[in-house]
Amino acid sequence: MVKIAPSLLSADFSNLTKDISIIEDAGAEYLHIDVMDGVFVPNISIGPVVVECIRPISNMVFDVHLMITKPERYVDSFIKAGADYITIHLEATDKVEETIDYIKSCGIKASVSIKPKTPAAKIAHLIKKLDMVLVMSVEPGFGGQSFMPESLDKIAEIRKLINEKNPACELEVDGGINTQNINSVVKAGANVIVAGSSVFNAPDPGEAVKKLRKNAV
Ligand code: DX5
Ligand code: ZN
Repeated sequence: MVKIAPSLLSADFSNLTKDISIIEDAGAEYLHIDVMDGVFVPNISIGPVVVECIRPISNMVFDVHLMITKPERYVDSFIKAGADYITIHLEATDKVEETIDYIKSCGIKASVSIKPKTPAAKIAHLIKKLDMVLVMSVEPGFGGQSFMPESLDKIAEIRKLINEKNPACELEVDGGINTQNINSVVKAGANVIVAGSSVFNAPDPGEAVKKLRKNAV
């Protein structure tokens, strides 16, 4: 089953409670939380204190996407704040495997993301131990960018690797997904769909979540 993961980055930061409850009531399973440090990506977003504040107001799965250099420094803080999944970037640390092992040893789901220019083959050896792979379909850093169509081949390639090595591993895609293109992303093999601007900039974000799911076939 496809899971919809609205990205908090495009929500109204002055009223997170309202936006979170709208998408949760509409049936979104995951809340995608983008953490940016201004170094790994040219933008700064939120830290563990916000995650901790919103944890008690939602039962959604907290899917924390760390776009930060040396993410191993902050894994404990985000676990303490209430993360269910922690995604680190392959390009952000030379301690990828030990960080995955550490996240899993804490009872949290571990995920690794690759940027658009990183080939699928670079992540192949990790799939066996991962709970999720996150394929970026835009350059990380900002919401509201256009989906890169060349990502579709990479998604299909990773789906094949997952089916061979670890079928339980989820495949999430993040960047530029909307009600028009979600179908091609799912067809290519994704089962967790991040959507920021297409949900929160829609006139009715709840309806947008429902429409994404309807089109995710
Ligand atoms: C981009 C973030 C995304 C972003 C997605 O660096 O990782 O999660 O919020 O936003 P949209 O769906 O607008 O591309
Ligand atoms: Zn993200």
